[in-house]
Amino acid sequence: MVLKIAQITDTHLFADRNTAMRGLVTWDSLGDVVTEVITWKPDVLLLTGDLTHRGEPQAYQHLIERIAPLNLPTYYIPGNHDDVDILNREFKDSPFLADKVVQGQGWQVLLLDSTLETAESGEGYFSEAQLQALEQSLTACSQPTVVVLHHHPIPMGLDWLDTIGLQNSQEFLNCLTGFPQVKLVLFGHVHLEFDQEHHGIHFCGTPSTCKQVLREGASEEEAYPGFRGLSLFEDGTYQTEVIRSHPG
Ligand SMILES: [Fe+2]
Repeated sequence: MVLKIAQITDTHLFADRNTAMRGLVTWDSLGDVVTEVITWKPDVLLLTGDLTHRGEPQAYQHLIERIAPLNLPTYYIPGNHDDVDILNREFKDSPFLADKVVQGQGWQVLLLDSTLETAESGEGYFSEAQLQALEQSLTACSQPTVVVLHHHPIPMGLDWLDTIGLQNSQEFLNCLTGFPQVKLVLFGHVHLEFDQEHHGIHFCGTPSTCKQVLREGASEEEAYPGFRGLSLFEDGTYQTEVIRSHPG
């Protein structure tokens, strides 16, 4: 038995559906990605921040309309571009769940809000209270665990991007150490696919549903919008893949 989770991130929708971000109309590219998500047949949808570009209520309503065909229990966390109050207000009804823990097939998925109200350029941070709560959750439950946040907690190797990651990532990583049930850390924010093992934990960055950040020498494929599929099996193993939408 398997729990299939689709992670959609950094949709950057605007109040006006025709608005483009760096040349791409984000409403259109999200529609293409949702078509791919439907084909993948997930059980649960995870939205991991920067769901709108400027936090307008209409932009959240556009997102609701876009994901409606999926008809899935939907969990969410904010990103630095979101307005947390407006987000929580617009997402208060079905298919959204306010819970920040997803349970299934013997796994737990913990969703953490890494946004910082006083951020100057989109960087993230965990308060002492948040880190203590995380430690308590991990102490209380030894099931295989996925931790999900918006910001990247390890460097991507791109200078400008690494200045706006999780500012106290070392404290976060220290918190995870000693909890071998933590198999995977999932994040958005970076607009690129990232896949690296670090101290026995698998760190996965997921492409945006719109414009990607391209490293030097990136392939044409890496520029396409996408999402991440995560399959959690009841024997404690998992598989993950990035699926992209292609023009035409
Ligand atoms: Fe972001």
